[in-house]
Amino acid sequence: MRRAFVKRFSPFLVFPLLLGFLTPAAGQPQGAEKDIVARGHYLFSLAGGCACHTAPKGPPNLGGREIPIPLAKVYSTNLTADRETGLGGWSEQQIHNAMVKGVRPNGEKILPVMPYEAYSGMAEEDLRALIAYVRTLKPVRKEIPALKTWVPFYRPLGTFVWSNLFSRFFNPPRQAPQSGVERGRYLVEHVSLCGDCHTPRSFMGVPDRSFYLAGAKKGPLGEEIPNIAPDKETGIGEWSRNDIAELLLTGVKPDLDNVQGLMEEVVQAGYKNMKREDALAIADYLKSLPPVKNKIK
Ligand code: HEC
Repeated sequence: MRRAFVKRFSPFLVFPLLLGFLTPAAGQPQGAEKDIVARGHYLFSLAGGCACHTAPKGPPNLGGREIPIPLAKVYSTNLTADRETGLGGWSEQQIHNAMVKGVRPNGEKILPVMPYEAYSGMAEEDLRALIAYVRTLKPVRKEIPALKTWVPFYRPLGTFVWSNLFSRFFNPPRQAPQSGVERGRYLVEHVSLCGDCHTPRSFMGVPDRSFYLAGAKKGPLGEEIPNIAPDKETGIGEWSRNDIAELLLTGVKPDLDNVQGLMEEVVQAGYKNMKREDALAIADYLKSLPPVKNKIK
């Protein structure tokens, strides 16, 4: 039996074939790894393309975007695999620590403008996939400016005060909910982070949960942010679940106007690639919330 096999399949033929199977094309993820990266790419879209890491109209994921925070200006990180200016020198675990604990490889604390607290509620499997995708971003060199502030010890002091008074970490679910309102809640709270823009903040940047998703006169860049709680007069209570899904997938509102500014950015950089069922899950979750009256315009 064995001999017959050896005779029929000459090693000269079998070896090159086997080698072809086993040697991954340089740098290209294969098989199972490829599936994980594809899942990670989808999560990246659900996360609005992590658009804070792209300068407006600039090349994607290079960071350097200026973000105003209380008493300072901070610049987002270059997410590409460049070893010196991006994440190329970071291990998977180091990126994981940054994303859910807010700690850099050198021990430095990341300012909570990076939503690591919200991401701490992401299912481990989703997080690993997202990181696997981020690690495939082609290296592009781009130096990122340092934090700008006149306040001494801003980073260590700020993160110390924040973590003692305001921080709010989550226990991730064992698996991400796959459908229904629970799926919508999971995406809104831990992946797509609608509240990052749509929930108002105090002058110290602390989100006001009593106005959860109810809009703000001054959003992250000082612009007006609409109320997306289901209040009929001041929010989107009159929108159907399809209207909401349509806006996430196309950027077009029921009155046929296009969304602008940051919302347009997150739609274009990511939300538009979400599956309709995920957009509808988000819509159903929004509709399940208590209507909060908050007139923005
Ligand atoms: C990066 C900030 C940001 C994020 C994240 C974000 N939005 Fe928005 N959103 C905005 C801004 C700014 C506008 C106003 C756009 C305009 O004026 O055209 C807006 C507008 C909207 C509107 C239109 C409301 C109206 O009355 O016109 C809806 C609905 C909406 N967002 C839903 C969502 C949902 C759902 C999510 C999460 C899946 C989300 N947004 C995430 C910034 C954001």
